[in-house]
Amino acid sequence: MNISQFITESEALAEEIVAQRRDFHRHPELGFQEHRTAGVVADAMNGLGLKVRTGVAETGVIALLEGKRPNPTILLRFDMDALPIQEETGASYTSTVDGVMHACGHDGHTAIGMTVAKLLHSHRQDLPGTIKFVFQPAEEGLNGAERMVEEGVLLDPVPDYTLSMHLWNDKPVGWIGITPGPAMAGSERLEIEITGRGGHAASPHQAVDPVLAAAQVICALQSVVSRNLDPCQAAVVSVTQVRAGDAFNVIPSKALLKGTIRTFGGEVRDLVLQRVKEIAGGVAQAMGCEAQVKVERLTPPVVNNRALATKLQSLVKRVYPETTVDTEEVAMGSEDMAFMMEDIPGCYMFVGSSNPAKGLDASHHNPHFDFDEVVLPRAAALMAVSAWMLLEGD
Ligand code: NI
Repeated sequence: MNISQFITESEALAEEIVAQRRDFHRHPELGFQEHRTAGVVADAMNGLGLKVRTGVAETGVIALLEGKRPNPTILLRFDMDALPIQEETGASYTSTVDGVMHACGHDGHTAIGMTVAKLLHSHRQDLPGTIKFVFQPAEEGLNGAERMVEEGVLLDPVPDYTLSMHLWNDKPVGWIGITPGPAMAGSERLEIEITGRGGHAASPHQAVDPVLAAAQVICALQSVVSRNLDPCQAAVVSVTQVRAGDAFNVIPSKALLKGTIRTFGGEVRDLVLQRVKEIAGGVAQAMGCEAQVKVERLTPPVVNNRALATKLQSLVKRVYPETTVDTEEVAMGSEDMAFMMEDIPGCYMFVGSSNPAKGLDASHHNPHFDFDEVVLPRAAALMAVSAWMLLEGD
C-alpha cells in the first residue's frame, strides 16, 4: 500500500483524536493510578478486536495487532500519566482534578496511540508483521517502563524494534527531531550527608559547622562540569534540596543535600560520579566534617539505534517534504523508555508541538503547558507510517 495514505486517513480522524485528548486532559491521573485512562484505552483496543492484556505494572495496557504474517514485531509505546501540578491554562478542557494536570502532553500521546491502532487495524489484512501497542503508566520519575519490562512487556512476542515519541513544546509544529545515538540523558539521584558537630550558635569555635561545609560543597560541585569535563561533552550536576537545622541559635550536627546528575553514560558518567564523590568528601574534610555520598541510578540514557534513526530520517523527509527534520536534538531530561531500548534497537522521536502565535508555547511541566492540537493527527500518521515502513523493510 501507499503509506502516505495514513496521512489523509489520520486527518479524517482529527476531530475524534482531539476529543479523545481533551477527555484525558479533563481527567488526569498520576503514575500507577491511571485506572480511568487505562480503562478507556483497553475498551478501545478490545473494540478493535486486538489481543489485550491489562494491569501490567498496575495500570499498563498491552494490545497486539497481528497482520498477514507474524514477523517482525514492532513495539509502539505511549505514556499515560499526568503530573502533580495545578493547571492554570484556563482551557475549556481544563483539568477537573485539583492539583493534577497533564502538563507534559501524555494525554496527547495516549490519544495518538489509540489513533495509530485504529489506522493500522484498518489495514490489518496487508500489515506485514505484528504491532505491540504499549500504553505505559508512571513515566514521570516512577519508572513505569522498568516495571513493565519486569512484568514481561518485551516478551511473547519479543519485539524486533521499539518506536516511541514525545510531543515537544520547545519546537513548533512542523519540526521533527530524530537523533541517531544518544538522545536523552540518563539520570541519577544524588544524596550527600555532611556530618559535623552540633553546638551553640554563639560558640561556633566549639562546634564543627556542617551548614558552612554544605555551602562550600554546593559551590565546589559547580566545578565538575565547568572544570573537569571536556567542554564538548554534556553533563548536569544540580543540587536541588538543602536541609539542615531546626533552630536559629543552634549549629546542627548534620546537613543533607539532594540533587540529580545527568549524563549520557560511559566515561563521562564515571568521571562525574568520581569527581562529585571526591569533591564532597574532600571539601567536607577540609571543613572538619565528613561527607557520605550516595548515588542511585534512576534511568539509563535513551540511545537511538543509529541505522534505525537514519532510516526514519529519510522516510520522514520523503513522506513529509515540508517538515524540518532535526538530526541533532538532544535533551538532558531523562525518559524511562530507555529501559525498553536497552536490549532492543529503538528510536525515540521528538515531535514539535508548540504554536507561539496561538500562545501555545509554555514549556513542559509548566502550569500553563498546552500544545497545538493540529499536531495530533500528524503524529499519529507519523507513527503509523514509521511502523509500517519498518515492518515492510525487514
Ligand atoms: Ni513527558
